[in-house]
Amino acid sequence: MKKDLVSINDFNKEEILHILDMAKKFEANPDQNLLNGKVIAVLFFEPSTRTRLSFESAIQRLGGRVIGFSEATNTSVKKGESLGDTIRTINQYSDMIIMRNPLDGSARYASENCTVPFINAGDGSNQHPTQCLLDLYSILQTQHTLDNLNITFVGDLKYGRTVHSLVKAMTDFNTTFHLVSPLELKLPSAVKYYIKKNNLPYFQYERLEDAIPLSDIIYMTRIQQERFADPMEYEKVKNSYILNANMLSNVKPNMKILHPLPRVNEIDISVDATPYAYYFQQAQNGLFVRQALICYMLGIEV
Ligand code: CP
Repeated sequence: MKKDLVSINDFNKEEILHILDMAKKFEANPDQNLLNGKVIAVLFFEPSTRTRLSFESAIQRLGGRVIGFSEATNTSVKKGESLGDTIRTINQYSDMIIMRNPLDGSARYASENCTVPFINAGDGSNQHPTQCLLDLYSILQTQHTLDNLNITFVGDLKYGRTVHSLVKAMTDFNTTFHLVSPLELKLPSAVKYYIKKNNLPYFQYERLEDAIPLSDIIYMTRIQQERFADPMEYEKVKNSYILNANMLSNVKPNMKILHPLPRVNEIDISVDATPYAYYFQQAQNGLFVRQALICYMLGIEV
């Protein structure tokens, strides 16, 4: 059976740890000719900087070739072609399909319409499992363990697909969850379900200051303007949390700040020069983790 990554639930804990282990090897040596002869389709129906370009860099550094698009306006989708037909067609040209699409659930549907391995690079506000893998790698690199950590998720916990994937994944590691959000943007109960199912502690806050001293990781997120049906609702919450360097006087020495990026204003640039900022290294880790993931899914040993 072919391997797909649509939700982080598609991989078990052992597979996740294996991929993180492979990523360490790629961090030490990112240029290897392991994808010689492979053609990988990278299809982005929604904007991206990090995910698309780190996937393309990962493929090219491994000697593979990329086909695809960064927006659908120049494809036959513009003429009315369905997602299913688009995927069935590109399936015939490629050895793997990587797709981002704004519709929740579109990734599962696309994966069922191709015979090559499929990777979800983000579907609406649903899941972003490859970001989750690089977030896990970043936590491991900074804390030297994934177990027994206090992780604080801040901002748009309702629409933030990276939060949904990472919360699910961290329930395997005895995490204590601190959830900081405006009332309107609380973690959906379908995601909270995973915390409850595993009998893990979680605490909800409206004030970020209350969670900062408890945290090993502060995972900041952008308020996802593009997911709001009513612009006035976005206006009400858009500046809910702005982390600045003055707020970091009482933190654990091991604490690191992650953010999937892009940021708008939720992390002030005064934070960038502090020893707690890790978000740009986190983005770089995406390269190594995506190299590992592609090789794992194609059955290539490193
Ligand atoms: N983290 C993330 O998904 O960034 P991009 O939207 O730039 O790919």
